[in-house]
Amino acid sequence: MKIKYILLPFFLSAVIISTRSIAQSVQQEKYRPQFHFSPKAHWMNDPNGMVFYNGIYHLFFQYYPNGTIWGPMHWGHATTRNFLNWDEKPIALYPDSLGMIFSGSVIVDQHNTAGFGENAFVAIFTHHNQKIEEAKTGLHQYQSIAYSNDEGKSWTKYKGNPVLPNPGISDFRDPKVMWYEAGKKWIMTLATKDRITFYSSANLKNWKRESDFGADLGAHGGVWECPDLFPLAHNGKTDWVLLVSINPGGPNGGSATQYFTGDFDGNKFTTKSKAVKWLDYGTDNYAGVTWSNTGKRKIFIGWMNNWQYANQVPTKKWRGANTLARDLSLNEVKGDLFLCATPVKEVLPFLEPIYKKALVTLNKEIDLSTYSGSLNGKLKLDFNFDKDKSVKIILSNKEAQKLVIGYDSQTGYYYIDRTQAGKSDFENGFAQKHIALRIAESKNIKLSLVVDVASVELFADEGLTVMTDVFFPESLMNGLKISSEKSARLSDLSIFGIKKVR
Ligand code: FRU
Repeated sequence: MKIKYILLPFFLSAVIISTRSIAQSVQQEKYRPQFHFSPKAHWMNDPNGMVFYNGIYHLFFQYYPNGTIWGPMHWGHATTRNFLNWDEKPIALYPDSLGMIFSGSVIVDQHNTAGFGENAFVAIFTHHNQKIEEAKTGLHQYQSIAYSNDEGKSWTKYKGNPVLPNPGISDFRDPKVMWYEAGKKWIMTLATKDRITFYSSANLKNWKRESDFGADLGAHGGVWECPDLFPLAHNGKTDWVLLVSINPGGPNGGSATQYFTGDFDGNKFTTKSKAVKWLDYGTDNYAGVTWSNTGKRKIFIGWMNNWQYANQVPTKKWRGANTLARDLSLNEVKGDLFLCATPVKEVLPFLEPIYKKALVTLNKEIDLSTYSGSLNGKLKLDFNFDKDKSVKIILSNKEAQKLVIGYDSQTGYYYIDRTQAGKSDFENGFAQKHIALRIAESKNIKLSLVVDVASVELFADEGLTVMTDVFFPESLMNGLKISSEKSARLSDLSIFGIKKVR
């Protein structure tokens, strides 16, 4: 007993030193994002079961703990209070006799509708059964539930699983459940091959099919996955948004997330808009959905990757990271509604002002590397300019690799060009220039860029057009130039570093 007490301080300091050195080595790995979530080791894909409770934002995720390529899926778990400091927790859900644990959602059962306890966390997810898949009956995906009475630390699978058996649809997955207050019932939004099917339930255990949406609407270049349905208030009105990820068939190739705006009456979703709209025009924002239990605020996070090359990207100990968490809002342009995504406000206290100028006249090019040089490949860059000017931002490193982000006034397109941004030989289609048509109509263009070692997120026109791309530079991109063929005026130009967050 005594010996134990004497040894305890030594033991504790050894633990502190070793966790600190793990954190440090994780931070120093090549391509490792510094303020975006990535698992310490192994494979990650879709964000799952995001839920807010007691000041903590929980993130679960598709996780394979035995390798760095996709394998039998578990739910990993991480938590944050500010979306930049992430605390990775033990695995939440393991595969079982019913199958692997595919994507799904978590709700807080405030009124104990399921009988697992007041405020129990209930996870609603897809079981994917490999044996049934091999038998080729098409019945291998069905929906199951699990609950936690300790805020997500430990989970119990419900004995009556599955709660929604497969009706004969081979792609039948990714349930996102929300409470529909007007009808006092749960609504499950489910991806069912080439459409979305809505189900309702009073207790999360018995589900009734309500309606289908989308077989003849939107983009259909690939199977529909990971949907989300939620209301968003704007200008004194409320409209509903339906997110649908598709793979492949994205606007710049591979996986991407489209959305529909419209109305949901508790049974059916309807839309008047015929145009295909994308939540993000970059290639690296997939399977994203929103946090539950955040009231009117809708916070989104996506998997910063693309199935086209997700299993080949050249990271070593881990594969997969998430986008920044983003606040979603609706805005009207030309009589149509569009979704806007901007970095969550929780990021603001971490921004370190490095450079600020109200007006800079750009005579072909300015070199801002003196300011970006010590930021270790992490920065936020903001400025405004006139839509008649083409403007380029060039990030570069000592190997002369470069990532070019810009706006072309001739075509009205934003773009990210990663053709010379580093390693790209792991997949033929990776080294590409990606484009996104400007949606906003204003004369003034507002650009904001967030860079974190191996990713760039472009928020144009306050998030009306968003592009997220990953890239793999040999060394940190610390050089920064802005150029324009003609002279241009940049207003409110600022560069921020991101304070150390681990
Ligand atoms: C989307 C997805 C989901 C599925 C999960 C499996 O990326 O294919 O439809 O549930 O990944 O890991």
